[in-house]
Amino acid sequence: LVTNDPAHGAPVPLGGEAPGGGVAASGEGAGRLLGVVRDAAVVVDGGRVVWTGAAADAPAADESRDLAGRAVVPGFVDSHAHLVFAGDRAAEFEARMTGRPYTAGGIRTTVAATRAASDDELRTGARRLVDEMRRQGTTTVEIKSGYGLDVRQEARALRIAHELTPETTFLGAHVVPPGADPAEYVDLVVGDMLAACAPHARWVDVFCERGAFDADAARRVLRAGAAAGLAPRIHANQLGHGPGIEVACEVGAASADHCTFASDDDLRNLADAGVVATLLPSIEFSTRQPYPDARRFLEAGVTVAIATDCNPGSGFSSSMPFALALAVREMRMSPAEALRAATSGGAAALRRDDVGWLGAGSRADLAVLDAPSYLHLAYRPGVPLVRETMLGGTWV
Ligand code: NIG
Ligand code: FE
Repeated sequence: LVTNDPAHGAPVPLGGEAPGGGVAASGEGAGRLLGVVRDAAVVVDGGRVVWTGAAADAPAADESRDLAGRAVVPGFVDSHAHLVFAGDRAAEFEARMTGRPYTAGGIRTTVAATRAASDDELRTGARRLVDEMRRQGTTTVEIKSGYGLDVRQEARALRIAHELTPETTFLGAHVVPPGADPAEYVDLVVGDMLAACAPHARWVDVFCERGAFDADAARRVLRAGAAAGLAPRIHANQLGHGPGIEVACEVGAASADHCTFASDDDLRNLADAGVVATLLPSIEFSTRQPYPDARRFLEAGVTVAIATDCNPGSGFSSSMPFALALAVREMRMSPAEALRAATSGGAAALRRDDVGWLGAGSRADLAVLDAPSYLHLAYRPGVPLVRETMLGGTWV
């Protein structure tokens, strides 16, 4: 059993847990990093974990299930996804695989298809993806708007997202819609659009990138969102070195996401400001961009999360196990660090203290693996190892 629980040796706080760069990242040290308990039991009541420890010491329970030595991990916390959309961009992916670069220009294709879809089409599509995630062990998912780009459409996307998760993010500032004037569009985002969307959202996000929104626009959107009660997060440094990470630190964002290009100053800033770096390796996989080096972030004392960024354009994978395997293979994380990033890292990125770990008081959100150890998540990439998922105490 992986607990991520300080009571079982896992360290708090969440960031910089392996001083000196991975001292505790493998073998016995990794067991401590994750709070691993062997021959363990988890006792659940009313949707919460009430006890974890050695099965031999477990208190009596009304009902029990023998998991036959299978590994149990906290449910994955996927803190970055775009699931409310219509249409398909497989042809764009095909073109990328034969050499065309990713530019985010395809977002407009999805916007056109999404605007034309009915509420039920959008709802069904998003629900199908959430179900797909559940089957792969994800128990908390964040969902962004951003393919509507007008007041009514953005509010509709967030209403639908909110039916599926409390972690909803207003991303009206994804790109400037076709035909709109950039300055007027930012006025709309921080004005009527924010007013219509804030009741359905917990977070505000902006795509701060050349070709999308510059640092001034990003600050304006995030500050206006914060004034409306939404906490900031940001798409930063995905396509090149830019000001996104700086802006994240300035406004006290919960997380800076992508961070594909990060300078040493950026890393220092993230660590000092306590901003989580959410790395999205499925996007580098699907765009053929270089992977960020997660070791640099960990060594700088930055809290790292990994998430899928599931979306129809830059990367259409809903799989946290896939992201985790990529993080190990391509971003120099140990299997233990990657699992921490996919669970408690995601929880930190969403400022949640009830998920991402298993212990008295946590939500009973967990995944049972068809494997004897969490190591198999990265050791057996592409294999559907999640046998069962428990969400708030219920098997789903
Ligand atoms: O996180 N970068 C901006 N937004 C998405 C991609 C959206 C799309 O291409 O449809 C991302 O990668
Ligand atoms: Fe994204």
